[in-house]
Amino acid sequence: MERMVRRAARPGMERLRPLLEAAAGDRPGGGPLNEAALASLDSDSALHLVAEEAGDVVGYLQHDGRFGTAQLVVHPARRRRGVASALLREAAREVGEEVAVWAFGDSPAAQALAVKTGRAAQRELLVMESAPSASSAMTGPAHGRDAAATSAGGSGSMTASARGRDRRDGATRPSPPAGQRPAARDRPAPLSQPPTATAKSNGRARRLAIRGFRPGDADEFLRVNALAFADHPEQGRFGADDLAERMAQPWFDADGLLLGFDDEGLAGFHWTKLAASGGDLPRGEVYVLGVHPRAQGRGYGRELLQAGLDHLARRGAASVFLYVDGRDGKAVRLYSSGGFSPLWRDVLYAPRPKEAP
Ligand SMILES: CC(C)(COP(=O)(O)OP(=O)(O)OC[C@H]1O[C@@H](n2cnc3c(N)ncnc32)[C@H](O)[C@@H]1OP(=O)(O)O)[C@@H](O)C(=O)NCCC(=O)NCCS
Repeated sequence: MERMVRRAARPGMERLRPLLEAAAGDRPGGGPLNEAALASLDSDSALHLVAEEAGDVVGYLQHDGRFGTAQLVVHPARRRRGVASALLREAAREVGEEVAVWAFGDSPAAQALAVKTGRAAQRELLVMESAPSASSAMTGPAHGRDAAATSAGGSGSMTASARGRDRRDGATRPSPPAGQRPAARDRPAPLSQPPTATAKSNGRARRLAIRGFRPGDADEFLRVNALAFADHPEQGRFGADDLAERMAQPWFDADGLLLGFDDEGLAGFHWTKLAASGGDLPRGEVYVLGVHPRAQGRGYGRELLQAGLDHLARRGAASVFLYVDGRDGKAVRLYSSGGFSPLWRDVLYAPRPKEAP
């Protein structure tokens, strides 16, 4: 059957929906494209390549120059017939070099394709999951030592689901009914929510004042996010436009974007997300958790994590998941000690450097 691989200006969701729906079951927790890629389907800022056979869309590749990475999916009924290989060849021609590709779920097929096309794992995002009741494991003195170790050093970033990653915005829940939300005016500033975990550093208890996001917090939130994720290729570039785009999503809940303040101002944040899971109960996500570099090593990460898990439990989350850099041992330890277990991994396969002659 004749196949055509073509560049499309703005393929749009409607054109790709049959392909994306057919491939949605490839891995638990989401479809083949992440949130950023879904948001770009109607944009000409990314390179879109569509593979068609007899008018049917059988494969799609998107390359986003901002991140220098691609996402690729082939219709399950049209696999092992060279569609992915053809899309990758065309992408190399368009971009001028072989592209790095995300494999969400890191299936055996993706691994084999990577090997065959001369790619190797460059980054790994671990997806971890926890039942909300496990969040109680976060409390207690046994974790105080870990708390300091977890957020010490490094960029201070712990999780960045949005980054290379957020792939589920098409399947998110509507906002909770207004009646379930405490009205902002009813809350003191900062929110007098009782701290749920006590962070310790050098034997001294420290507590953050934690409250939900308000529009006037945007600049400071973006500043601290950029500092916390200075080394992160996607989340470190999260800007005002990105924030506005997320805030316009039906899942956005200002009360779920928890800001933690200490004496010096905004010290960190935990952005939680609640998404429909297809079942009766929503799934929670540790969407982004970050601590200002100046405030690392005080256990704030653990305190913010706990506050977010409590928030998600109050909202009825049946389980909570998160993405974390699989090579970030401190963050993985934080989440493991908080009751999270690995579920699957997303791997970025990049072209192997050419060997010297
Ligand atoms: C991974 C994926 C894109 C492959 O698409 P495809 O069109 O079937 O791939 P191709 O036909 O071009 O396969 C090229 C080579 O990859 C390897 N390969 C692909 N799928 C494989 C599988 N299921 N088992 C073993 N090897 C496989 C083979 O070496 C194959 O060459 P061969 O058929 O001559 O042996 C497809 O399975 C998919 O869409 N998966 C879900 C999305 C995803 O994981 N994307 C990330 C891609 S890195």
